[in-house]
Amino acid sequence: MDEKVSSLMGVSSLKTRISLPFRLLIARVGLVLCVLGLVLWRYGSLWEDTKALGRQLGHCGQVVDLKSIGVQSWSEVKPSSNLVWYRCYDEYDCAKLEVPLDWLDESDPRRATIAMIRYNATDRSDYKGPVFINPGGPGGSGIWYVKHLAPYYQSVVGRNHDIISFDPRGIGMTLPSVDCWNSTYSSVSALLWELQDPPNVDAHPGSVYDAYAYAAAFSRHCADNIGDIGRFVNTPNVARDMLQMIDKLGEDKLQYWGFSYGTFLGTTFAALFPDRVQRLALDGNVDAKEFSSGAGTHFLDDTDAVMNAFYRHCHRAGPLLCAFYANNPEAIEERLKNILADLKIHPVIVPSSPSSNPRPEIVSYSKVRRMISAALYRPLVVFPSLAEALTALENGDGRPFVDLTSQGGEELPLCEKQYDSKDGDPESPTPEVPEAEGNRDATKAIMCTDARPAEGGVEGFRNYVDTLAGMSKAAGTTMSNMWMGCVEWGIKAKWQFRGPYEGNTSHPILFIANTADNVTPLRSALNNAKGFPGSVVMAQDSYGHTTLSMPSRCSALNIRKYFQTGELPTPGTICAPDYLPFERWDVTSSLSGTTDEERELITLDQSLLKLMEAPVLALGH
Ligand SMILES: *[C@@H]1O[C@H](CO)[C@@H](O)[C@H](O)[C@H]1NC(C)=O
Ligand SMILES: *[C@@H]1O[C@H](CO)[C@@H](O)[C@H](O)[C@H]1NC(C)=O
Ligand SMILES: *[C@@H]1O[C@H](CO)[C@@H](O)[C@H](O)[C@H]1NC(C)=O
Repeated sequence: MDEKVSSLMGVSSLKTRISLPFRLLIARVGLVLCVLGLVLWRYGSLWEDTKALGRQLGHCGQVVDLKSIGVQSWSEVKPSSNLVWYRCYDEYDCAKLEVPLDWLDESDPRRATIAMIRYNATDRSDYKGPVFINPGGPGGSGIWYVKHLAPYYQSVVGRNHDIISFDPRGIGMTLPSVDCWNSTYSSVSALLWELQDPPNVDAHPGSVYDAYAYAAAFSRHCADNIGDIGRFVNTPNVARDMLQMIDKLGEDKLQYWGFSYGTFLGTTFAALFPDRVQRLALDGNVDAKEFSSGAGTHFLDDTDAVMNAFYRHCHRAGPLLCAFYANNPEAIEERLKNILADLKIHPVIVPSSPSSNPRPEIVSYSKVRRMISAALYRPLVVFPSLAEALTALENGDGRPFVDLTSQGGEELPLCEKQYDSKDGDPESPTPEVPEAEGNRDATKAIMCTDARPAEGGVEGFRNYVDTLAGMSKAAGTTMSNMWMGCVEWGIKAKWQFRGPYEGNTSHPILFIANTADNVTPLRSALNNAKGFPGSVVMAQDSYGHTTLSMPSRCSALNIRKYFQTGELPTPGTICAPDYLPFERWDVTSSLSGTTDEERELITLDQSLLKLMEAPVLALGH
């Protein structure tokens, strides 16, 4: 993170640390994108830190020392059925809360221990209690996000709030953890498996059959390894865990800000415990009904609107800001179409280079399709480099594309044992494992048990792919991987809750949506809101996934007002974004506000940029 902003906010610089296995997954973004698990889009300063970590890890066996104050590792944080906090990561508190593994049968002696993290209110003058964050996924690590971004979340909701999060069941420091590979070398296995990743379903005739077999093989393998605990990781359990957390905190009700899948968790909580809602801000809404039914299609309602924004704003920005400029938006679209058609027959070869890719790489149709699909999550951050990479590809040069999708120099994680050791005890992974943004195996375990099982076999799936392709030219086929991950998933959740998603909440819910979100359309927010009388949908006139994709003071101030006073925006409110795609969004030059109020707003702007630049947990991937 930027030292200047961090110190500005009274926070010493927090170094980003990512587990080696996860780093590799990210490094191969072009390849593994949209396969299974989380699609993570890394960019900006976090990206740089990751490279630095890669260098450090060259020394086998060095576990990065995270803290100078408080506990030195998660193993020192003792699980307790009452919340016991330990000072951790210098200025945070960590805890492990013990809860029944099976909330429907508490006589079952098995326990889950939920790892939690807290960043205290920095302004105690009008203390307003904790706000829970869920970053999405499913499979995202709340610990990772809060550890790296707490001051920025807090800057939005108000400094008189504590920021709290946790690793949901299956993820990170929480037990049980979900791992499809069941071995010490699980991430090597995961990587080698991903190298068998078949092409995108529309790459060649019949690709869909290979893709289906690949997904089915992984489902079976994964379900065998996860076994019985796979019945207890789905969302109703997590909502109940959250209720336990607020009880143990001594809070009456929940204050919560959730993104993407986090909206599904929030909506589930509100449906199950409507009288325990104090604030729920749900940004980037999953249509709860559609999601819990599995294999939906409406999540793609606005996807092509984001793609069209690429063409339109590239044209508007002009050739200096958009390398892929042409005389009109249609011509830009045509250019892309030609590149894609050409790549199907002539993938671009990128020779190895010591500074970039140690092995030759092939830029295929599938990789470019998947990259485009990923870019739609974060137009502001990614569109300009995408435009450059496409322009180079057009000239037969794949290097900018490779640079965009890999971090270069990645090698097989031969030292992994030291980071991924389970000490022979599957119930107790080494807590010192540097944590990651999320766990893609948990993504699968959670969403495939939240949703109804996919039926119809491979032919049913082929029809589904055709429907998606018709819904979105830009990403329909790539996004079919979202539910592909659940084909032939053999585990059923014990606690199945598939709605109705409605309730008279003790305080109205604030639903938030971009007018064009590539995977959680505005319409989903409107659908969810119907079940909750008094709730309001606030829109932001932006592209990409969640309103964090494009900063908007207007949205942020409405969200703050909601947390501070409970007041909702007027129904029909549409906030403008502060920047448009292809515009420069560097605000450091405007650091010198004169009044306190101005300085406060500049800090808010910077926080929104930090939140925008953070890795994205793409819904369901
Ligand atoms: C956070 O606040 C709690 C309660 O006031 C306090 O016990 C704890 O030490 C604080 N943690 C940090 C990291 O300052
Ligand atoms: C995975 O590990 C567990 C615990 O060691 C073991 O009981 C189970 O049989 C293993 N599963 C497979 C498929 O090897
Ligand atoms: C909410 O309250 C209204 C008015 O009392 C009632 O008609 C409605 O059925 C309630 N909805 C739910 C989901 O409980």
